Parts: sequence; structure tokens; C-alpha cells
Amino acid sequence: MAKDIFKNLKDKNKIYKNLYDGYWEESKSGKYTEIFSPVDNNIMGKIQSMNKDDIDKAIMNSKDAQLLWQEVPVNRRSDILNRVADILYEKAEELAEMLTMEIAKDRKSSIAEIQRSADYIRFTADAAKSLEGETIPGDSFPGTKKNKISLVTRVPLGVVLAISPFNYPVNLSVSKVAPALMAGNSVVLKPPTQGAISALYLAEVFNMAGLPKGVLNTITGRGSEIGDYSVTHKEVDFINFTGSTEVGRHISSITTMKPLLLELGGKDAAIVLEDADLDITVDNIVSGAYSYSGQRCTAVKRVLVMESVADVLAEKLKDKISKLKVGDPREEGVVITPLINKKSADFVMSLMEDADKKGAKLLVGGKREGNLVYPTLYDNVTLDMRLAWEEPFGPILPIIRIKSIDEAINIANESDYGLQSSVFTKDIDKAFYIASKLEVGTVQINNKPERGPDHFPFLGVKSSGMGIQGIRYSIEAMSRPKAVVFNLNNVE
Ligand code: NAP
Ligand code: G3P
Repeated sequence: MAKDIFKNLKDKNKIYKNLYDGYWEESKSGKYTEIFSPVDNNIMGKIQSMNKDDIDKAIMNSKDAQLLWQEVPVNRRSDILNRVADILYEKAEELAEMLTMEIAKDRKSSIAEIQRSADYIRFTADAAKSLEGETIPGDSFPGTKKNKISLVTRVPLGVVLAISPFNYPVNLSVSKVAPALMAGNSVVLKPPTQGAISALYLAEVFNMAGLPKGVLNTITGRGSEIGDYSVTHKEVDFINFTGSTEVGRHISSITTMKPLLLELGGKDAAIVLEDADLDITVDNIVSGAYSYSGQRCTAVKRVLVMESVADVLAEKLKDKISKLKVGDPREEGVVITPLINKKSADFVMSLMEDADKKGAKLLVGGKREGNLVYPTLYDNVTLDMRLAWEEPFGPILPIIRIKSIDEAINIANESDYGLQSSVFTKDIDKAFYIASKLEVGTVQINNKPERGPDHFPFLGVKSSGMGIQGIRYSIEAMSRPKAVVFNLNNVE
């Protein structure tokens, strides 16, 4: 039985197979990757390191399945997705427990990720029902008569390859899979290696809900080993990728004439003006920068504050950050948890070393125990420091002091990234002026950067991405217009 795949979840020797044509199949490669928990370093099980034959098989099966799926009425697809959402809600506790252990996400955020995913699926299932085409009369264009009418509908693209990152293995899989399916595509899901068990569980939920076989298949293995082969596969019609700018850029460089949607890294700035409500600002900056230990693309990754309020802001930030609970993600109230791996913690420490060497002032943190990096705040960060420009993906925040609004805009825009920015001020004119100048996908006024609510458009510019996500936008991105032109002989 397919659903047995998730029995004995505590069995350390368990091999997590892949969903193929409605069943959990073992790869013939005979190779596995062990998944260790970043929480206690214990092994959680093994996922399969697939080979090229496995990937060919999965993609070809998805291609066949898509031809049948596109014929399934939208209201029926919607029913299946609503069932997926119901099951996810029922299983939220169990799946959240797995997520907590697999990616060291605190318990509250893990549950929130699952529930938000269920809500995402429900909204998508409904939104797709009201997605309409259009009829365009020909005679509005010069020289065209009334006898020409274009009937434009939306059709699926085919096989979507969905690649998700470790920090939201469930939610950022759902945000690709659900709109792709509602648009009539089939999906091959390549989850992050660390996070794969949670994502495979998600795939089983789709399976349990009655998704026809082959409409969702999974492939696992290190991106560095199977990634290039998968993204360049000739039967993949669309790639929906979330991850680092480095990998996104690489994918874009090796794929030709293949449509891509890329959600990449960020260096979101919080710009704080003299008249900002500093308590609201501090609450937003702290939760924006330190939730899930800063491992969010939309985390606040630099503060640009007007000199005149910088001392007060720094003191308030220091006070709140010192109170953040650090430790085991299973414990109540813990915010700062071990980073995903040693490489990440080493990287964050290297940013600190550079900042220390160049004279930044450490206000709090700066300490590490294993992969647990304490929440860290630096003041007087200058533009020659790596911390001013690089995405740490960890619990560390630089304060850069500025003298004018235009200086803030210039520094914000000098970044290679362009995901989101926040502006904290009570002056609506200044807020709009700054928002109009910032080179980002979204500007938040008096709030931290954030992706949700999930029906808003979500996009990055420059090195932060390509294409638009957000429920309706994602359905549109994974479908295309198809025009049938009626040429009426008896009409002038
Ligand atoms: P990553 O290392 O780029 O990995 C992302 C995904 O790509 C994983 O599934 C990975 O597989 C796979 N991959 C690696 N090499 C590949 C290749 N050559 N071809 C195809 N796939 C390949 O990113 P991450 O460390 O998981 O996530 C953190 C990054 O994601 C941060 O930079 C963050 O800002 C960004 N992010 C952006 C958004 C957004 O919406 N803009 C949202 C979340 C995260 P393996 O795990 O097997 O290596
Ligand atoms: O880093 C992933 C991105 O999707 C963040 O979402 O809701 O935490 O802003 P959110």
C-alpha cells in the first residue's frame, strides 16, 4: 500500500522511496543519501540518489499522465486539491514534527508552514476556477474587419519540474505543485536533499487525496549530481525553481528555450526614518531578521537607519534580540535554532570575522556552539564589509547608519539583489518617494518584508529572481494563452 511509506517514521534505517506512477518505487541505482537531523545529528533515514534512468522514467511517466490530466475538468481537479488540503490539516502535527527534526525549524513555525500550505492549496483550487480567457474582436485593429474574432483560452505547459529549497520544503513545494496542477500540468518534484523526507510526505498526501497516477512524481538525489541532467531534460516544459542565486543563475545558463521561474536570494533592507514608531519598527525588524534563525529569503538582512535615531534604535534592537530564546526547536518559544549545516554556520562566522576586522561594533551575539549561531547584531557597519552586501542566511544583522533618504536609496539599490525592502516612517509622502525609487519586487511600508499573503504577487528583480509567483500569477506563469481565430465568411 502506498500509504505505508510513512509508517515507522522513527526507523533510522528506513529508505524513503520515490512516488512514481502512483506507487512508491525503489530506484535501481542502489545509492542512497543519509539524512541527519540538524537538531540532534541523529540519522532520520535514507533517501534515494537516483540515476539518469530513474529521472528519464519519472519524467516520461509524467509526460504521459499530463495528457490525461489536462482533460480532467477544473472543478474535479479542484475537488482533489481540496482533499489534499483537508489531509494536510489533519496531519499537520505529524508533519510538523518531521519538519522540525529535518530542518531544525521551531515547532510553531513548522505547524504554521503546514497550515499555510493547506490554505494555499484551498485558495489555488478556488482561484483556478475563475481563471478566464477572453474574446478579442479583430476590428479594433486598423484594417481588420468585423469577421475576425480571437477566442483566447489558457492551456497547460506540459511537464513542470519543481525544485524547492531546504528552508520551506513543504510550503515552497506546494506553491509550485498546486498552481501547476490546477493549470493542468503534471509535476516532477525535486525536493531539497535536506527537507526531502518532509516533501516526500507531502507528495504522499497528494497521492492519498486521489491525484491520478503519474500526475505528481518525485525525484531525489543531490542537486549537484542530478540537477543539470533534470533541468536540461528535453521533456521538461517548464522549470519552477526556488533556491540560491548561484544555482538559479547556473540553471539559467544551461537551459535554452526553456521557460523558467526563479525565486532566488535577497538582501532586504529595512530603512528607518527619524519619525518612525521605533517600537513597531523594532518588533518588525527582530521578527523579520531572526525568525527561523534568519534562514528566509525575505529576512531583514540590513538596517539602514537615520543617524539621529540610530542610537535609540540600536539599543532597543539589542534589548529585544538579547531576549530571543536560543536552543532546541522542539522547546516552547525557541526562535534561534541550529543552522541547517556546518557550512552555513561557518559562512556566518566568516562574515563576523570580516566585520570584526574592519571595525564594526558587536552589540550582541557573536557566539557559536556547533551549528547554533547566537542572534548577532552589529552596529557601525560600513560599505567595505561583506556583511553590508552578502546574504548570510543566518541570525546576523548589520546596522548601517545613513545621513539622508537618498543615501539610503542608493545603498539599498547598490545591492545585486532586489527582493523586498521595508520603509519605517509616519510620513506617507516620504514612504511613497522611497518606494518609487527602490529596485525591488515589493516595498513594505511599516512592516517587515514577507511573502504572504500568498495571493499577492511575489517577485524578485536583479539577482533575486525572474517571473512572478503568487497564486493567480503562478497559475498564469504555468499556463499559456491559446488563441483560436474565427474568420466568419458571412460577416463583413
Ligand atoms: P540551493 O542550494 O540553491 O538549493 C535549492 C534547490 O536546488 C535544492 O533542491 C537543491 O538540491 C537544488 N539544486 C542544487 N544544485 C542544482 C542544480 N545544479 N540543478 C538543479 N537543482 C539544483 O538553495 P538552498 O540552500 O536550499 O536555499 C537557500 C537559498 O534559497 C537562499 O539563497 C534563499 O534566499 C533562497 N530562497 C529564495 C526564496 C525566494 O522566494 N526568493 C525562497 C526561499 C529560499 P540539493 O538540496 O540536493 O542540493
Ligand atoms: O524564504 C522563503 C520565502 O518564501 C519566505 O516566506 O512568508 O517567510 O516571507 P515568508
